[in-house]
Amino acid sequence: MTTIGFIGSGRIGSAFAHLAVGAGHDVVLSNSRGPETLREVVARLGSRARAATPAEAAAAGDIVVVTVPIRAYRQVPAGPLRGKVVIDTLNYDPARQGRVPEIDAGDTPPHLLLQAHLRDSSVVKAFSTVFFRHLADLVRPAGAPDRSAVPIAGDDAAAKKVVAELIASLGYDAYDVGPLAESRRFAPGTPAQLAHLDPDGLFAAPGRPVTAARLAALLDQVA
Ligand SMILES: NC(=O)c1ccc[n+]([C@@H]2O[C@H](COP(=O)([O-])OP(=O)(O)OC[C@H]3O[C@@H](n4cnc5c(N)ncnc54)[C@H](OP(=O)(O)O)[C@@H]3O)[C@@H](O)[C@H]2O)c1
Repeated sequence: MTTIGFIGSGRIGSAFAHLAVGAGHDVVLSNSRGPETLREVVARLGSRARAATPAEAAAAGDIVVVTVPIRAYRQVPAGPLRGKVVIDTLNYDPARQGRVPEIDAGDTPPHLLLQAHLRDSSVVKAFSTVFFRHLADLVRPAGAPDRSAVPIAGDDAAAKKVVAELIASLGYDAYDVGPLAESRRFAPGTPAQLAHLDPDGLFAAPGRPVTAARLAALLDQVA
């Protein structure tokens, strides 16, 4: 089994950790306020979970999930993540999470920002498209006709394989969209990013399963 470190343990981080523990993985959670503030979350997750500092979670993880507001990306500890596979869930949502001047200036697009910061890590964009409340709803066993595919993108094929295996263990299929730059095709506002939302109920409705064929058609809508 894998140890998964989390830099950020909010809505997506804790929902992801819940799936990971359910699949038999160990998780090490961290946030900005310190491990003692994660006591309740860790207690809910059980004996496979512990809390640590971001640097400790980064060092402990075989795979590390970075799931902080994007404006905090510079505080993600690059040293202990050197040579590691990093999952990047970050979306740029300035209205809710604040502006990032280097994105607004056009220096680096949001989907490449974490890899630019973690230049010695293998960043794979994944789980940036699933609303946190839908993460558990959409889990299905391998081979189920309504198992969902989620898009992944990254520049390191071996890292993508590792992430795809993790995703499979959690109850989804990974759909490889290509290099990290191609994650623009499932960035906020694209059809693929909204794939799981039921147009009638949006965030209040249960998540809609999305097959690989449906996901491919949605990704193709972005040239
Ligand atoms: N919410 C969703 O459904 C969803 C879906 C897909 C992708 N995303 C993306 O995933 C990311 C996380 O979203 P979220 O909704 O889970 O956010 P959230 O609920 O606000 O949680 C953010 C987490 O990041 C931690 N954090 C903030 N600054 C940090 C730092 N410098 N070092 C370590 N940890 C830090 C926070 O800790 P403290 O509370 O201690 O500050 C908190 O645990 C965002 O980039 C978002 O765009 C979200």
